[in-house]
Amino acid sequence: MDRRHFFASGLAGLGAAVLAGKAGAMKFYPMPSEKKWAVLYATWCGSTRDAAAWISEGMAGIADVFDVRENPDLSGFDHVVIGGAIRMAAVSPELRAYLQKHRDVLKPRIAGLFAVCGNMGRPVGPEQKEILIDNHLAKLSGAALVPSHVFLGRVTKSLMDPETAQRMAAFDDYDNLKRPECMAFGAEVLSSVNP
Ligand SMILES: Cc1cc2nc3c(=O)[nH]c(=O)nc-3n(C[C@H](O)[C@H](O)[C@H](O)COP(=O)(O)O)c2cc1C
Repeated sequence: MDRRHFFASGLAGLGAAVLAGKAGAMKFYPMPSEKKWAVLYATWCGSTRDAAAWISEGMAGIADVFDVRENPDLSGFDHVVIGGAIRMAAVSPELRAYLQKHRDVLKPRIAGLFAVCGNMGRPVGPEQKEILIDNHLAKLSGAALVPSHVFLGRVTKSLMDPETAQRMAAFDDYDNLKRPECMAFGAEVLSSVNP
């Protein structure tokens, strides 16, 4: 479909789905663009979802945003940005499995990588990028050398399963995710493909 008509037809499709009683969870409708962009994310508690949406906003909203649990078919996209929340120094099992299964489709399309972590509230630096991007997400996805970023995220214990919330009982909730930082990364990724 012509991307210029995607926005309008997307809304029409949404209306039809609502009428048919098939409306699902929140869907992100991208702005029109020449190339098709997607941001794929994996989250437990939502900070990586927000980072993904804000990265797309930094790209003037042209990227569709997918939770990996939707199991999206990304073969029709020109460029894909991939990011995951970090627990125990790794992205979620769902993202790891998806990257392994769709490696051939994703590899030539990956234009950016990101991770969202706690890092004990400390600022992130080259060490976190090396551990979480170069030695983890880049290897899992097979990405070439592309722009990447590690963001500080959030802890919201009310969004965790009871066992995890119990494990985190000694820690206070925090929110270190910054929308301007996410948007700046989106702009960086876009300009790396369209200099
Ligand atoms: C059980 C658990 C384990 C975590 N493990 C790590 C870790 O190994 N390294 C790290 O930097 N942050 C860790 N974090 C912090 C998360 O990466 C951070 O809260 C992030 O924003 C979660 O993203 P999400 O809201 O998208 O799930 C952990 C958080 C939880 C609850």
